[in-house]
Amino acid sequence: MQNEFIYIKKKNNVLSGITHWKSPSNIALIKYWGKKSNQIPANPSLSFSLNNCFTSTKVSFSKTKIDLLDFNFFFHGKREQSFENKLKNYFDNILIYCSFLKGFKLKIESTNSFPHSSGIASSASSFAALSLCIMDIEKKINPSISENDFFRKASFLARLGSGSACRSIKGFYSLWGQSDLFEKSSNLFSVKYSDEIKNVFKSLHDTVLIVDKKKKKFSSTQGHKLMQNHIFSEARVSQAKVNLSLLKNALKFGDFNLFIKVVESEALSLHALMMTSDPQFILMKPNTLNIINKIWDFRKKTKTNICFTLDAGANVHLIYPKKEFESVQNFIISDLSVFCESGKFINDMIGNGSLKL
Ligand code: DP6
Repeated sequence: MQNEFIYIKKKNNVLSGITHWKSPSNIALIKYWGKKSNQIPANPSLSFSLNNCFTSTKVSFSKTKIDLLDFNFFFHGKREQSFENKLKNYFDNILIYCSFLKGFKLKIESTNSFPHSSGIASSASSFAALSLCIMDIEKKINPSISENDFFRKASFLARLGSGSACRSIKGFYSLWGQSDLFEKSSNLFSVKYSDEIKNVFKSLHDTVLIVDKKKKKFSSTQGHKLMQNHIFSEARVSQAKVNLSLLKNALKFGDFNLFIKVVESEALSLHALMMTSDPQFILMKPNTLNIINKIWDFRKKTKTNICFTLDAGANVHLIYPKKEFESVQNFIISDLSVFCESGKFINDMIGNGSLKL
């Protein structure tokens, strides 16, 4: 139990209200893969938040006469009972930190900016937006909570919904997980990346190439679990730490070659860990590999600063600086879109983080 996040009972005259937040998805450059109990990551991870792929969540809350939390969840206007079960787990996990929720009925209404069947995971953006709404309720009851504590606890709560969600609260680069390289880092919540970043990395683009729209057969949560007894688990933690320190240097010195090396190593290592789990599984599709080979050819031929990363799925994230936008768009249309499901890709870029609506 993390005592500093426990809500200390205040006189509560708040009867009802509405709060509305939008939170972006994020893409990890150093991957979180493997966790200990209570959503503590096995290694530190580093991501940047996106701009166009986000979840917006509205919570209408009203006081009831019973001392329990009650809620309904609606996705694009339709009641989603399957997600309500997931949310029930989340609320069970956070109630100890948010006991003020007992005695409230919540109507939670969410929409995603990206298509439902695009293979883009929405748990990070949705748990981030919901956690911010919950913090808004706490703030109504306790207006003296500082801005810093507000966002820290929002990240803490989001983590308890889905680990990577804690990195979707603030914008630009977020670091989650204790690291000796960063004094303020924590396993409990994510912090804004505080080290120097050269300009070229401040306006990165991420184009998501949709290779497979279907929901994946293996969830990240299952994958994390398999890391507990994985033959490479210790080596993975060491690798992530080394890669984080290399990436720190790449960002600081504007070294794109080093950036490419680290980011692609992280993506391929993530999938190699899946392939060497017991049971093993493969989330890449033939077109994932076709795209990777095309990127490597294109980079060799044109010397463009471009690389890829992968999530726990078949889609490919193309990462490149703003100034390469036009040439990369041409490359996607001429060489890559043929490998995308229905030719689909989504252009996104590094963003400012969550926003209160
Ligand atoms: C491959 O955050 O989805 O995207 O904590 O079980 O909800 P849970 O897992 P999740 O895992 C994300 C894994 C990843 C890498 C990353 O985002 O760092």
